Amino acid sequence: EVVAVIMVGGPTKGTRFRPLSFNTPKPLFPLAGQPMVHHHISACRRIPNLARIFLIGFYEEREFTLYVSSISNELKVPVRYLKEDKPHGSAGGLYYFRDIIMEDSPSHIFLLNCDVCCSFPLPDMLQAHKKYGGMGTMLVIKVSAESANQFGELVADPTTKELLHYIEKPETFVSDLINCGVYIFTPEIFTAIQGVSTNREDRANLLHLSSIDGLQSVTRASFPTDFVRLDQDILSPLAGKKQLYTYETMDFWEQIKTPGMSLKCSALYLAQYQLNSPQLLASGDGTKSASIIGDVYVHPSAKVHPTAKIGPNVSISANVRVGAGVRLISCIILDDVEIQENAVVMHSIIGWKSSLGRWSRVQADGDYNSKLGITILGEAVTVEDEVVVTNCIVLPNKIINGSVQEEIIL
Ligand code: GDD
Repeated sequence: EVVAVIMVGGPTKGTRFRPLSFNTPKPLFPLAGQPMVHHHISACRRIPNLARIFLIGFYEEREFTLYVSSISNELKVPVRYLKEDKPHGSAGGLYYFRDIIMEDSPSHIFLLNCDVCCSFPLPDMLQAHKKYGGMGTMLVIKVSAESANQFGELVADPTTKELLHYIEKPETFVSDLINCGVYIFTPEIFTAIQGVSTNREDRANLLHLSSIDGLQSVTRASFPTDFVRLDQDILSPLAGKKQLYTYETMDFWEQIKTPGMSLKCSALYLAQYQLNSPQLLASGDGTKSASIIGDVYVHPSAKVHPTAKIGPNVSISANVRVGAGVRLISCIILDDVEIQENAVVMHSIIGWKSSLGRWSRVQADGDYNSKLGITILGEAVTVEDEVVVTNCIVLPNKIINGSVQEEIIL
């Protein structure tokens, strides 16, 4: 049997996701109409002999209760949220719940970062891993040399695919091959994590024995024994020891740290629906439906006027109302938003319960990597008639009654 673990992190990690993380934990923010983590869970379903899926994080339990129970019923695979009492790091969190994870004695454990977007070729990774042997196989991808330093950079043997060298976010360029944050391990991983903790305890005890009290507290503070990072503490030291192997994906992969990237990733998942779930895409057939351009998701409860023109890369959530003559391009419209006649939304995310007036425009230049490259309206923002909002971040509950540009409206 195989189990999958998805590391969802917690509220402190979501600060770059403001103001969207105010009322939804980032893992449940919708991309292409489905919660971020849903794309991981659907991919896990394709793993043969998958027994269970665990989400590990330090968000409040209640934030995940509803989603976890509905997805378990829908997919007929038990999905469970496990809450850490405090952050233990990406490997420490896994280790903290080792007894629960090992309950059914799985032969393999998939480990997925929640904040990545990819096609998750998990069955292929499992096959490759069985061929390589060793303790684990990680998904890797080639990126541009300029962007590689935001990730773990690595060197792999071109023939055996063994991981030879691994450095987390190095200051000087090492390699354009990077860690995708998607792994498969044998249960040996727990011994490796245990080893890191034991080492730290020994070091702390040694310092204690030599009674250098000041130094000891410094060491304890910077390396608590139960905080273990997968990358620095496990991957780096185990590289080149015939324990870890790499599987390179040629498909899409992105990391989702900012709202701008969520718009880009929404487009990638919508494009993937063309292949895997075309029934989720709006068709625009029939005289009573709006004109649809490219890949668009519309929640069944949304009401879209037949004279609206929508797409490409648009996701419309539950209970949204879109008026006559509205134009939507590259945007995410969250639950209960109202968009009145002839409004235009472009390269923007419109927060829950917001309202856009007649002939208003909410827009941006669409540079996903720059801070104000997309416009974001927080929850319950009102944009009045004919007002133009360009390249702005607007915090919840604001009323915008005059045009604004390149501003963070607090
Ligand atoms: N449950 C839990 N507890 N999850 C955590 C914790 C923790 O204490 N710390 C981090 N995570 C989760 C995050 O939510 C994220 O999904 C994943 O673990 C990795 O987060 P970080 O450790 O902050 O690393 P990163 O995202 O900056 O970089 C990692 O992922 C990149 C791929 O996206 C590294 O492994 C990079 O090498 C890699 O390229």
